[in-house]
Amino acid sequence: MKALILSGGKGTRLRPLTYTGAKQLVPVANKPILWYGIEEMANAGITDIGIIISPETGAEVQNKTGNGEKFGVNITYILQDQPAGLAHAVKVARDFLKDSPFVMYLGDNLIQQGDLSSFLDKFIQQQPDTLILLREVNNPSAFGVAKIDEHGRVLQLIEKPKIPPSNLALVGVYFFSDIIHYAIDNIQPSPRGELEITDAIQYLIDQEKQVSACNLAGWWLDTGKKDDLLEANRLILDTYLKTSIAIDSQIDPQTKISGRVQIGHGSIINNCTIRGPVVIGDNCHLENCFIGPYTSIGDHSTLIESDLEHSVILDSARIEKINQRIIDSLIGQRTRLTVAPHHPKALRLLIGDDSQIELTAI
Ligand code: G1P
Repeated sequence: MKALILSGGKGTRLRPLTYTGAKQLVPVANKPILWYGIEEMANAGITDIGIIISPETGAEVQNKTGNGEKFGVNITYILQDQPAGLAHAVKVARDFLKDSPFVMYLGDNLIQQGDLSSFLDKFIQQQPDTLILLREVNNPSAFGVAKIDEHGRVLQLIEKPKIPPSNLALVGVYFFSDIIHYAIDNIQPSPRGELEITDAIQYLIDQEKQVSACNLAGWWLDTGKKDDLLEANRLILDTYLKTSIAIDSQIDPQTKISGRVQIGHGSIINNCTIRGPVVIGDNCHLENCFIGPYTSIGDHSTLIESDLEHSVILDSARIEKINQRIIDSLIGQRTRLTVAPHHPKALRLLIGDDSQIELTAI
């Protein structure tokens, strides 16, 4: 059994963060989203992993993630030279996959830990040609959607339908036997110009091959957008942050910490109130701040006289003397958010393309 994790694409829905980096490397609880997928594979006992990368962000993914040693797996990087669809990614990975069955995992999806193993067992025992995972959603038009009969048999799969036949979305985790390559060789690009994996699976259904579906009971998030990413951060902090840890950091006696709070090496915390679950990275400096629940602060960040909660702050950000609480925010690497000197009531901005700012109406 092999795994193919997709970490290409352009990440248009997470701009401007994705102008400078891969969407799969955006951190959730201070760990790149992609790494959760790799860890899921390792937990399920799959050690032969191919990762699809793009020309734009491939080097960054590779440098940060390495050869898999730190996860106890072997990683092979496979370049997809253009974002031509999920089935195209499988085609590009043919030499790596050979005739092995494999699990395909979209690198921006997060599923509850441990769920993958149980579906893998089912796939190995029952040996269908394909096993897909389905989940009820409120906005099926944003996903691949399945139509199933009263016995749970998959009748039809449609990619991002305008009029969805059900509210059952295709989760970005698929189990395939090698027959999928034959299906991919027989499909044409969709109207949006991509070779869709949904069309390849539909081809198998039409050929009366065995396509099974399971309902995913645990949580699932496609982290492609800001609010989904904040929700993923909330869920991961809630589920996996078990205890408070602060090793090799300086926390003064005025600081009040409650709940589960993890503080990284070399961080200095003075006169702050921190209410977990919160993760603070390495070498951060926080002074006179309130840090509320569901906040992750990346390495080398500085926060002075600021209040925030339910937010994700990436590495090396600086937030200083902001006298309003920052909530539901995603703040990119090296961002500086301070008051304009000599103009305390004015705003002075340098904002990247496609940024979103919501200011308080007074
Ligand atoms: C892709 C698939 C879609 C699936 C979704 C899950 O869409 O094409 O069928 O439901 O992943 O995350 P994308 O998120 O790439 O638009």
